Amino acid sequence: MNSNPIIIAVDGYSSSGKSTMARDLAARIGYIYVDSGAMYRAVTLYALRHGMATPEGNLDAEALNAALPDISISFSPAGADGRQHTLLNGEDVEKEIRSMEVSGMVSPVAALPEVRHRLTELQREFGRRRGIVMDGRDIGTTVFPDAEMKVFVNASPEVRAKRRVLELRAKGENVNFEEVLDNIRERDHIDTTRKESPLVQAADAHVLDNDSMTIPQQMDWLLNLYNSIK
Ligand code: CDP
Repeated sequence: MNSNPIIIAVDGYSSSGKSTMARDLAARIGYIYVDSGAMYRAVTLYALRHGMATPEGNLDAEALNAALPDISISFSPAGADGRQHTLLNGEDVEKEIRSMEVSGMVSPVAALPEVRHRLTELQREFGRRRGIVMDGRDIGTTVFPDAEMKVFVNASPEVRAKRRVLELRAKGENVNFEEVLDNIRERDHIDTTRKESPLVQAADAHVLDNDSMTIPQQMDWLLNLYNSIK
């Protein structure tokens, strides 16, 4: 039993529904939610805007490393849509960081060791007072290896691509299924094979295979686990 607030790490593949479940779980138990992927996306947006990354796939790692001290990332309190928004140097970039252009460059940017070190520091700072749910790729392995509750989420690439297409179309972005599926496969590959804290399942993670689970079923699964740990 843990009477004090704990750290909950939710890791898994791209578009597996991690963010939705982590955000909902945090709201249910009164914890802070941090979307670590949004932080990598914000750095990627900065790089694209400053010509350090291009949509064609060029990345000037040296220039981006040198610019890291100028990049500040924070989150606004939840607004009218019930969500907190990602702020890049104070500007609300929540919509832009979800674009296909950013998705196309985020995994190479997230593979840079300097970028990872800087964001890992910031993520640990967010978790200093505990009572946090953080989702990402390396939260239970690198950022918070001592997290009391670790979840590893998986679903097939096709199911994940279908979900992502619906999400992007709902936001008015005109994408096709193949393009999204290719991007998911490409990011899975980069995320699992990079040298610096690759996406791997922590030995003590609880696996949630959510291919055919509804959102309420997922929430029951998570709350049962939380109650058994807490
Ligand atoms: O929303 P989706 O699951 O597609 O991705 P995300 O959580 O927004 O993360 C975007 C990208 O950032 C991932 O594909 C990873 O390359 C990278 N990332 C990472 O390397 N480490 C994290 N802790 C979170 C994200």
